[in-house]
Amino acid sequence: MAHPSTYQPTSGFGKWIDTRLPFPRVVHDQFMVFPTPRNLNYWWTFGGILTFMLVLQMMTGIVLAMHYVPSADGAFDSVEKIMRDVNWGWLLRYAHAVGASMFFVAVFIHTFRGLYYGSYKAPREVLWILGVLILLLMIATAFMGYSLVWGQMSFWAVTVITNLFSSLDSLIPGLGTTLVEWIWGGFAVGGPTLNRLYSLHYLLPFVIAGVVMLHIWALHVPGNNNPTGVDVKTERDTIPFHPYYSIKDGFAIVLFLIVFAALLFYVPNYLSHPDNYIPANPLQTPPHIVPEWYFLPFYAILRAIPSKLFGVIGMLGAIAVLFIVPWLDTSRIRSTSYRPIYKWFFWLFVITCIALGYLGAQAPDGWYLFFGRAFTIYYFAFFLLIMPIVGLIERPKKLPGSITQSVLGSQASKPPSPPPPGPDDREGLA
Ligand code: HEM
Repeated sequence: MAHPSTYQPTSGFGKWIDTRLPFPRVVHDQFMVFPTPRNLNYWWTFGGILTFMLVLQMMTGIVLAMHYVPSADGAFDSVEKIMRDVNWGWLLRYAHAVGASMFFVAVFIHTFRGLYYGSYKAPREVLWILGVLILLLMIATAFMGYSLVWGQMSFWAVTVITNLFSSLDSLIPGLGTTLVEWIWGGFAVGGPTLNRLYSLHYLLPFVIAGVVMLHIWALHVPGNNNPTGVDVKTERDTIPFHPYYSIKDGFAIVLFLIVFAALLFYVPNYLSHPDNYIPANPLQTPPHIVPEWYFLPFYAILRAIPSKLFGVIGMLGAIAVLFIVPWLDTSRIRSTSYRPIYKWFFWLFVITCIALGYLGAQAPDGWYLFFGRAFTIYYFAFFLLIMPIVGLIERPKKLPGSITQSVLGSQASKPPSPPPPGPDDREGLA
């Protein structure tokens, strides 16, 4: 929330820097005393978790890059060398690979949180759009990172995904093929392709970091939404970010790290495909080409549509539709907790995404194909029909009068109680 600065530099250096580059002022105003709704629950800790994960991915990635060899002949062996010969290399590589999965767990929860509590609604549309842009960049970055291992799944995933551009041939003959060969840097996926994927995989996290800064800036203009969706009305509705939410976010990061460590130290390969331990072989296609788990729902949508071009449009549309969510939702109120009809559709949407994830890993025939199509239809119907229509016809439940009232109930109207007696106030105890 835009609020007047309360920063008072105390030291001589503090005053000097404040008139030249007031960075301490920004930290103080935006991250220490920042007025934050008093009722944020644990779903609001995922933004902090994501920031932590982004930094961790960048740190482990930069050190991995010191040992990685981005050539078709050297890539696979260099990854194995990192695992076996480089000091702590196994930890670096597994932390980066499992970290990518944990990053997606966090970003999916963060996005569903936004959807559930209507955090995309005015005045937070730009904040939301920047979030969707980050999601797109994360998908591109993860895809490129996976290709770098240059195992069988890496190689064939790159072949399948880059080949999708050839669907443009059905619009303008030759356009798609030309584009694909331009991306490949040759007539097949090979060394030049790997080189460009490596270059972009190194670049994009810095772009993500830049967009995250804009995302947080766009958050700090209107301030946080909250579980009731009711706007902040008085100062009593907020508490300073530090120490209340800095402690809560820190605690959540520790819990998240425990789950991360359990995967990392006990089952580091659980979420990846064993075929990626076979070096890339352009002459042998694996029986099933399966992407990483976080792409499976999108992969299921791609395969549910019986036309290559429309399949690609469907897959991209599944994310693109998120950009216009602020204008598709016609509800007067934000939080799904107070929306008796929409709530059911929301949870069915969550089930749909999980089901699409499961179906993306199955061969697309028989009942799998049938359900893949049914869930794909629901996925788009949720955004394009249910959001606009239910918002118009539903009568929401009564909202609390204020954020404070939602926390304290009837006590909210009483004046704040005096502070408890301090150690110097002994007679007050008698
Ligand atoms: C690298 C990825 C991301 C990072 C580091 C990040 C960071 C943050 C942080 C620190 C917050 C404030 C704390 C919180 O509300 O959890 C936040 C809020 C928010 N983010 Fe993200 N975010 C990311 C991705 C996304 C994505 C993909 C979306 C949606 C598509 C999104 C939508 C939002 C929204 C709507 C809010 C406001 C929440 C509210 O106040 O109700 N973010 N983000």
